[in-house]
Amino acid sequence: MSIVIKTQKDIEKMRIAGRLASEVLEMIKNYVKPGITTNELDKICHDFIVNKQKAIPAPLNYHGFPKSICTSVNEVVCHGIPNNKVLENGDILNIDVTVKKDGYHGDTSKMFLIGNVSNEARKICDTAQEAMREGIKILKEGIRLGDVGFTIQKYTEANGYSVVREYCGHGIGKEFHEPPLVLHYGKKNTMETLKSGMILTIEPMINVGKKETKTLSDGWTVITKDSSLSAQWEHTILITKNGYEILTLREEEVGWDK
Ligand code: MF3
Ligand code: CO
Ligand code: CO
Repeated sequence: MSIVIKTQKDIEKMRIAGRLASEVLEMIKNYVKPGITTNELDKICHDFIVNKQKAIPAPLNYHGFPKSICTSVNEVVCHGIPNNKVLENGDILNIDVTVKKDGYHGDTSKMFLIGNVSNEARKICDTAQEAMREGIKILKEGIRLGDVGFTIQKYTEANGYSVVREYCGHGIGKEFHEPPLVLHYGKKNTMETLKSGMILTIEPMINVGKKETKTLSDGWTVITKDSSLSAQWEHTILITKNGYEILTLREEEVGWDK
């Protein structure tokens, strides 16, 4: 399958799916506190998506994933399964939401700081967000995906952190995961050239320690091999002639777009 160039109708529907996904993150922030379990957060998101948004939580049953959101705490890199452990003061948590509405997907995630967190924990979260943003800022028709990976890797490593290699961003639309792969490391002037009408995610995972990861025996939960903290942020983004449009932008990020 080659990279889909979205039609005007596709883009309208992707704007709606993207907005719904961002609204789930805005809704859930009021509940993310020490003492709540990730299972409770999963249920609140599930019910909001199904009953209020009349949409589908795309992770549920995706290749057998058992829940409606991914919740990745501390050394968990991605694909954490909501469970009955309570969030504790000092934890960092990524919530990754993918909503399917009217046949189209919106995919976004952010880090939450639980109570008072250490300076190191805050710094890895901030650096991951800024790494994503550095990658987003250069997007426009004509640049190449290697330029995006290079930019994210350079920013991350300049801050003393490492970029996870095994998981990457992706095209998105009628399918949850479409071509191309969006690597968060690489070399300038390599990989696919972007065209207006492409929609992709940028979702760097970065670690305090080494880049290597391992998957737990549940088949999903990915952690850092050295148990160091990991952080990730994700947006779904439309490529335009002169730049980009972030389809999952939240209120707190207004002004990010160009
Ligand atoms: N939302 C993840 C992504 O950004 C994918 C999660 S797949 C799941 O691509 F099955 F774990 F939900
Ligand atoms: Co994604
Ligand atoms: Co996601």
